[in-house]
Amino acid sequence: MQKLLIDGKNILSGRISISGSKNATLPILAATILNNKTIITNIPLVNDIFTMLDLLKFIGLEYKLSKKKNSVEVFNSDKNINILAPYKLVKTMRAGILVLGPLLAKYKKAKISLPGGCAIGSRPVDLHLFALKKLGAKIKIKNGYIFATASSGLKGSKIRFPRISVGATENTILAAVQAKGKTILDNCAIEPEIHDLVKFLKKLGAKIKIKKRKITIEGPIVQKKISHKVICDRIELGTYLIGGALAAKKLNLTNIESNLIKKEISILKKMGVQMKISKKNIKVFKSKKIRKINIKTEPYPGFPTDLQAQIMILMTQAKGISKIKENIFENRFMHVPELRRMGAKIEVKNNTAYITGPSLLTGAEVMATDLRASVSLVLAALIAEKRTSINRIYHLDRGYQNLEKKLINCEARIKRV
Ligand code: EPZ
Repeated sequence: MQKLLIDGKNILSGRISISGSKNATLPILAATILNNKTIITNIPLVNDIFTMLDLLKFIGLEYKLSKKKNSVEVFNSDKNINILAPYKLVKTMRAGILVLGPLLAKYKKAKISLPGGCAIGSRPVDLHLFALKKLGAKIKIKNGYIFATASSGLKGSKIRFPRISVGATENTILAAVQAKGKTILDNCAIEPEIHDLVKFLKKLGAKIKIKKRKITIEGPIVQKKISHKVICDRIELGTYLIGGALAAKKLNLTNIESNLIKKEISILKKMGVQMKISKKNIKVFKSKKIRKINIKTEPYPGFPTDLQAQIMILMTQAKGISKIKENIFENRFMHVPELRRMGAKIEVKNNTAYITGPSLLTGAEVMATDLRASVSLVLAALIAEKRTSINRIYHLDRGYQNLEKKLINCEARIKRV
């Protein structure tokens, strides 16, 4: 198993080009099932994307990946389609569930492995199945698989999600574009990645409107050669912003859309982080005095759960006690025991973490547990005394393209062994 060795307390400076969004690319790759020829550019070359491409190939699609151009062409000739998403591919990458909607919509049946839980929580899919049933799907669960059929096709319907879910919203949109008649969804997730999926589907002729948390969808979509540039990864952007606030003389973050992280920017400003913000790039500077703050994670446009572990590191350097309430996942504080081993003063009660700062962090042997927790250990290591060694960094490779290269280019002392 590979690990990262990081010698902390080096002042960073330089430029980081932010990659495309993993969480926008995944549903758009699932949507390529509905089209014959699709080019997607600005994709992040991370393991979750390669796993999704393996899944599309398993289903019967073809693809040509250009690592040099960070782009992929996906072809669906509709030949030898296998409407199966097997456990071996879905267990490592939960977003595999997103092929359920398009397979059902286009081939009227699908057999999808239940994704199973992961480190941060049980990750049920009841909301996905609830909505697809409303569109007329017959769903049975047996031997760890979802068997879904819609022999006479899907029918548009009015659906109100009992709880907000990014994946369930995406899966339902992907099914509804091929349903007969109009579908009206309410209480939807409205993350930028969902807006990007909608923008993609509109290129195929879908009529989709998003108003507050209401999304109306009317198909059909036509098959035509289209290309789509994926939005920047706002979580990677937020991660390096926090990294810069912790350890950089000046970090220039490029290839971004700063309007995707308004909430995060306002929180960082309140904490005293110095930034120069323009539409396409942000410069961030190590801030002398970091102020404490209380935040809670919420669905977009609230503060994202995917940045909770990262902002916690900044809070360890803030004067006083900061608070984070994690409202989205039931077990997303696994980075806390690892950070404690580095000297962080953090208490967790129920779903709230209390962080006392400023605290001096010292290097240690630590273990990554999930994608975003892993990167918070990298951020902590950058400001910790001496050396930190981070184990199980395959978690990092699922969602951060060239992490150590990007940081080494900014003077970080980090190496993979
Ligand atoms: C997406 O996961 C993201 N993944 C997650 O990012 C992100 O943390 C999450 O949205 C919340 O923003 C992708 O986009 C690939 P949810 P998803 O459905 O769709 C519960 C990362 O690090 N729920 O919005 O699975 C669920 O358990 C990943 O890139 C149900 O109860 O998240 C959770 O508590 C981690 N029933 C809450 O809703 C369901 O059917 C939000 O989950 C579905 C979800």
